[in-house]
Amino acid sequence: MLALITGASRGIGESYARQLAARGYALHLVARDAGRLARLAGDLRTRHGVAVEEIVLDLAQADAAEQLYVEVRRRRTAPVDLVINNAGFGLYGEFADQPMPKIQDMLGLHLVTFTKLFRLFLPEMRERRCGAFINVSSVAGLMPLPYLSLYAATKAFMVSLGDSVGCEAAKYGVVVQTCCPGRTETDFHETAGVKAYRAPGGEQTADDVVAESLAALDRGRSLVITGRRNRVLAGLQRILPRRAVLWAAERVLRPVP
Ligand SMILES: NC(=O)c1ccc[n+]([C@@H]2O[C@H](COP(=O)([O-])OP(=O)(O)OC[C@H]3O[C@@H](n4cnc5c(N)ncnc54)[C@H](OP(=O)(O)O)[C@@H]3O)[C@@H](O)[C@H]2O)c1
Repeated sequence: MLALITGASRGIGESYARQLAARGYALHLVARDAGRLARLAGDLRTRHGVAVEEIVLDLAQADAAEQLYVEVRRRRTAPVDLVINNAGFGLYGEFADQPMPKIQDMLGLHLVTFTKLFRLFLPEMRERRCGAFINVSSVAGLMPLPYLSLYAATKAFMVSLGDSVGCEAAKYGVVVQTCCPGRTETDFHETAGVKAYRAPGGEQTADDVVAESLAALDRGRSLVITGRRNRVLAGLQRILPRRAVLWAAERVLRPVP
């Protein structure tokens, strides 16, 4: 079995790599940080005896998906069974203050590269009538979030595309999981520029998120909201009026001076 994981150099992506290697998967790991990828790959080869390829690539670039697809096909010895679209980052603060290059990178990574990778790897799975995608979205993709506005909007895109394509792909035996973690202990918040907001607490570890996601994949489930607190939050936002959700989110996420 072969899995391709984007954003594998740390955090949730690294946990997917570790847990899939323990299940015996060969891996293609993608990220920009060559040193971290090399150390992780070496460790996984030693611990689990699996084949690991490192692909160093900036997935926010316009033609990154096509480059990655060609590179994977060149290096692989078997078809890809599982594609994990995990690479991503947050942008915290008022939308009007966000630097245009960061906006461009987020649109490139979360929308363009994600969509193209989905489109590029799906036909072969459809042909073989097996395979799976795990698209790592977020509970932020289930509701509007002031101060994380573009992040939430791009993650909502992932939920919608994943649900629709998953419905089409099911009849070919291809599973599309949209994984929605809540606040998780990784470098994400530092990268996003989150200094302080009134977070309601209760972070999950990356290992817990991934264990839930892979257990759900074993059962063929399409939408996975990890963590009990996040499932309660997601349920509440479904029944509350949208303006109440916005009001509460604004209060929780408002930057603390
Ligand atoms: N942590 C949370 O609270 C949380 C909650 C919900 C959803 N998520 C989602 O979970 C996913 C993983 O985030 P994380 O929490 O594990 O954060 P993280 O620790 O910051 O890891 C992000 C990963 O994405 C990679 N990445 C970022 N930009 C990239 C680019 N332009 N090209 C290639 N790789 C890139 C990073 O690798 P390099 O820097 O080496 O390129 C890194 O491996 C993201 O999609 C995030 O939106 C996180």
